[in-house]
Amino acid sequence: MRRPLVRASSGSGWGRLALILSILSLAAAQSSTNTSSVPAVTILLNCGARESKNDAGGRLWEGDEESKFAPAAVANLVSAVASWQDPALPSTVPYMNARIFTAPATYSFAVSPGRYWLRLHFYPANYSQSYQRSDALFTVVSDRYTLLHNFSTSQTADALIQAYLVREFSLNVSSDRLNVTFSPERKSGYAFINGIEVVPMPDMFSTAPLVGTAGTFTISSSTVLQTMNRLNVGGQYIPPTEDSNLSRTWYDDSPYIYGAAYGITNDNGSHNLDYRLIPQYTAPVKVYTTFRSMTSDPKVNVLFNLTWMFYVDANFTYLVRLHFCEWIYPLVNQRVFNIYLNNQTAQGTFDVIGTGAGLGNPVYKDYAIYVPAEKGDSTLFVALQPDTTANPPPQHYDSILNGLELFKLNDSAGNLAGPNPVANIDNQGSDTVVNTPSSSHNSSSKGPVIGAVAGGVAVLGLIIALFCFVRRRRGSSSGGDKPSGWLPLPLYGGNSHTMGSKLSIASGKSGTGSYVSSAPSSFCRHFTFAEIQEATKNFDESRILGVGGFGKVYEGEVDGGTKVAVKRGNPLAEQGIHEFQTEIEMLSKLRHRHLVSLIGYCEENCEMILVYDYMAKGPLRGHIYGNSNLNPLSWKQRLEICIGAARGLHYLHTGAAQTIIHRDVKTTNILLDENLVAKVSDFGLSKTGPTLDHTHVSTVVKGSFGYLDPEYYRRQQLTEKSDVYSFGVVLFEVLCARPAINPSLPREQVSIAEWALHYQRKGMLEEIIDPHLKGKINPESLKKYGEAAEKCLAEQGVDRPAMGDILWNLEFALQLQETAMENKVMDDSTADLIQMSPDYNHVNNLATYAAVDNSTSTSTGGHSLASVDLDDLTPSAVFSQLVNPQGR
Ligand SMILES: *[C@@H]1O[C@H](CO)[C@@H](O)[C@H](O)[C@H]1NC(C)=O
Ligand SMILES: *[C@@H]1O[C@H](CO)[C@@H](O)[C@H](O)[C@H]1NC(C)=O
Ligand SMILES: *[C@@H]1O[C@H](CO)[C@@H](O)[C@H](O)[C@H]1NC(C)=O
Ligand SMILES: *[C@@H]1O[C@H](CO)[C@@H](O)[C@H](O)[C@H]1NC(C)=O
Repeated sequence: MRRPLVRASSGSGWGRLALILSILSLAAAQSSTNTSSVPAVTILLNCGARESKNDAGGRLWEGDEESKFAPAAVANLVSAVASWQDPALPSTVPYMNARIFTAPATYSFAVSPGRYWLRLHFYPANYSQSYQRSDALFTVVSDRYTLLHNFSTSQTADALIQAYLVREFSLNVSSDRLNVTFSPERKSGYAFINGIEVVPMPDMFSTAPLVGTAGTFTISSSTVLQTMNRLNVGGQYIPPTEDSNLSRTWYDDSPYIYGAAYGITNDNGSHNLDYRLIPQYTAPVKVYTTFRSMTSDPKVNVLFNLTWMFYVDANFTYLVRLHFCEWIYPLVNQRVFNIYLNNQTAQGTFDVIGTGAGLGNPVYKDYAIYVPAEKGDSTLFVALQPDTTANPPPQHYDSILNGLELFKLNDSAGNLAGPNPVANIDNQGSDTVVNTPSSSHNSSSKGPVIGAVAGGVAVLGLIIALFCFVRRRRGSSSGGDKPSGWLPLPLYGGNSHTMGSKLSIASGKSGTGSYVSSAPSSFCRHFTFAEIQEATKNFDESRILGVGGFGKVYEGEVDGGTKVAVKRGNPLAEQGIHEFQTEIEMLSKLRHRHLVSLIGYCEENCEMILVYDYMAKGPLRGHIYGNSNLNPLSWKQRLEICIGAARGLHYLHTGAAQTIIHRDVKTTNILLDENLVAKVSDFGLSKTGPTLDHTHVSTVVKGSFGYLDPEYYRRQQLTEKSDVYSFGVVLFEVLCARPAINPSLPREQVSIAEWALHYQRKGMLEEIIDPHLKGKINPESLKKYGEAAEKCLAEQGVDRPAMGDILWNLEFALQLQETAMENKVMDDSTADLIQMSPDYNHVNNLATYAAVDNSTSTSTGGHSLASVDLDDLTPSAVFSQLVNPQGR
């Protein structure tokens, strides 16, 4: 066993005992709050509306027009309806109506004294001709507290890629009125609000140790809290209707996991759940029944921390509430771990059972931490590390977490507002966005890398850890303004700013969990640094294929002539290590003709270098539009490329031991080799969206703008169907030869998904296709293709077909095209050719499939239909398609 990397602060047996005792008393104190009950009156105000209406979740919202809480003479104020309904809105109520203010106006709620959740709902949109989306800029104040200041709803929503914004505050009302004032910030600007919720809540907050000091922070009646994040760790989205009458929203935690170490998730079911130590309203049942823990291998566990990362506003104190419920180990000293906040010990030697909780008894722990103002983005890390220092040692080196809430506390001036986040639109075609969450210093594309699977750290990881540990620790984890380590792989993508984590095991699957075995990478070759230098002519600048925040990608040659792409991570980037490991882990296990192959790596001198197959023709996108040097692809070529990409994704979804979700399917991530064989790239390495929403609980969505699954967007439930959605966008992009998002077009055309769907549904798809293809596509083939793309873009994931189905539809579209071309040849030449029906072709090809060498070779033979890889075919699928040639 290696020495633990960091020692917990209280390692000795006595210190431990004392700690357990103090925890016990704390738990007892918590349980005494059990008695307070939740008062009953909740106010839901649909601003800018006259009548009361239910939202999609069935909650009734009162129109503010006739409400006694509305500003005086409300009928004379502007009410407006949004000009456009974003498909990502969860409900038309309260978002489609707005109350608009050109001068300060106050809602005044008559309530009894006590604590309330105040939730403000904003949908940034154009409201009639006069109120442009981007002109809204305002301040929201409640009594002495500034809740939002200079708040630009459009800028915030764009940066975070959210259709709507919810800001939640907890404030104690000491009089009989809760006043909320909206004031426009500019003469020409305006303020607006779509919905206000006032929900009575019990006194849930008291004191918390102030981490990094010996002191305690007291949350008094004069403290206002803003909810930043509320996560159901190891579980899924919980809508307000499934919470107690506190109607909070809980989100999946996986987007916030830092690094590759996802651990495993578990759902224990709710039997035996017993809220004996804390009030039931603390968090819903589902929060406690699901959890995330480390892997089943203690040797692996001692090498990593289960870490969550949040972007926050600097110069505020935060309250972190961690929810625990042990389900597996019933005894004290079985699962013991240390809790760190921003590298400082919040709690050493924590044992859930040691708090006096039995199996199935939820508890929570609160910690306060001040996040100083510093250069760059401010982050808050929550890390759990198995305690290896205890004596006697705990039975399992493991940690657990069930839920996490993060609140910002008002500063001494009563302020809670932070700066608006900043979005960067990719100037190459605006299909990707990076936002720098804390805009105070505008350096973009930084922030740690998250995502990617691999709970385990491989043997390789060990080596790398040894080599790089010292270096990695040198920098502060909050980034500074150094480049952010490894960006994902658009090898040639240049400045592609990608927001999301690319690769993820479907979360929320019970039992199985997302743990990749830590077997050493068998395929992967190790290069010495000298070899790499030679291959790239000492990183000769003329060999650069692409540059990004991660460093550069070079063309190289190894073994006397084999071309490779060499990606060199910035050696100073401190956050790449997990991703480095993950990429190696994943890519070396995943071998497929339609996935970009990793050839090897080099980790000498703390370099992080990955060596890939050279993809001579670069990204698909340049072959479709934007690069006039390239000849337009024929319809048949495009179909073959889409089929190849679909095969790669199908393999990711079904071919590996566990489902792998790519999360960033787009035309720049589909690369072409010299024979135009498509290979999916950019998985395993990933970069966090600075999306990680520094402003609050609402959805953190990762992926590229324009390709995002609206359901994921809305509910944060990530499934492989999110990839299917993005692939549908790719299909339309390939057909219409235009970017997924083109902001310079008229509104209805901006998003290809919407625009093409509209034409597809009207049966007029032909009108918007690439002019190069006009008259060259067989109408049946186009029809099949359009249908496949349309199905991919279904609003609900469950209505979208699996990748395998799409594959078959595309194959079928190709068949139709080829048959048509053959018939044309026959007609033209009147030659005595054998008439081939599509079905005949299929059978014929099936025979060919069997003959194809199913090796992992990436060299390309002919890439006709016959070159299908056997591993992603099921004969039954083939035959069901044959039996039903209409496809599915
Ligand atoms: C809120 O204010 C009321 C009245 O001032 C007070 O009685 C109550 O204790 C306060 N609650 C909290 C949580 O501070
Ligand atoms: C876990 O977190 C602590 C505190 O930030 C840190 O000192 C330690 O090095 C981390 N361990 C690993 C394996 O990263
Ligand atoms: C931090 O916030 C306080 C108010 O609580 C303010 O006076 C101070 O100037 C701020 N410091 C920085 C560096 O922004
Ligand atoms: C804000 O919070 C602090 C600490 O909770 C409190 O002492 C202060 O009075 C609060 N209110 C204002 C208006 O500063």
